[in-house]
Amino acid sequence: MDGMSNSAYRYIQTHRIAGALGAEISGVNLAEPLALEVLAEIRRALLENLVIFFRDQDMTPERMLRFARNWGEIHRHPYIAGMPDYPDVLELNKKASDKRNFGGDWHTDQMFAPKPAMGTMLWAKQVPAAGGDTLFANMYLAYESLSDGMKALISDVRGMCVGDKKKSGASRAAVNAATISMTTLEPPPDMPRESAHPLVRTHPETGRKSLYIGGHVHYLENMTREESAPLVEYLYEHSHRPEFTCRFRWQQGSLAFWDNRCTQHFAINDYPAETRIMHRVTVCGDTPY
Ligand SMILES: [Fe+2]
Repeated sequence: MDGMSNSAYRYIQTHRIAGALGAEISGVNLAEPLALEVLAEIRRALLENLVIFFRDQDMTPERMLRFARNWGEIHRHPYIAGMPDYPDVLELNKKASDKRNFGGDWHTDQMFAPKPAMGTMLWAKQVPAAGGDTLFANMYLAYESLSDGMKALISDVRGMCVGDKKKSGASRAAVNAATISMTTLEPPPDMPRESAHPLVRTHPETGRKSLYIGGHVHYLENMTREESAPLVEYLYEHSHRPEFTCRFRWQQGSLAFWDNRCTQHFAINDYPAETRIMHRVTVCGDTPY
């Protein structure tokens, strides 16, 4: 995260976009297969900056999948249908008539799953004239800025993460169809609907602790929702203080790659009557600890 580490790159250039996290990477063409030395530097840039951005990338679903496979297995979304020829690539298409957007709250991807996503890649196919930025927040900083008392209080507490916020009897497909133009699926009946994850998560590659909270955390393990609410709400609000965040302005061809294990993100819905089309690929993760 300091300037010295950025100067040590040989194959790429990094340009931080905020104090807390986020860097634009140049000198890389993601449309081509990358040498191992280049991939190693991109991995280091991701671990140091938490979210990295590439401009003017000429991506296709095949090229995105090839780049993503360098980080692990590709995750297939249980609720949303992928592209017809590429089921592992989601096309997030917010049409001018859609009122709601996808990802319009602070969250980290697939936190409701037993093994949430390691990382997510998003490529901009079509962007509005203005608006549609994405916010990211650094969960290492969110954790480190808590008091020692709060760190001790939550050190062994697990959050109960729920995939579906809608508690009505309506099916997920019906709920989603009312909010955004995407083909939604009913998840397999044996798929877990909620998972318990530690509020203090240790990153498996950096060894650093972070606050593992987001919109999917509904209550705390072994506590009622009423008992949990004050702490969950406090930690959620604390986690995205402005000084923990960065804001990315998309252009057509921009690609973002974020580490879900130490960040949250928020897709801003501020472009009424315009279309925004993004391609998303998600890399599988491991069990949080
Ligand atoms: Fe997301």
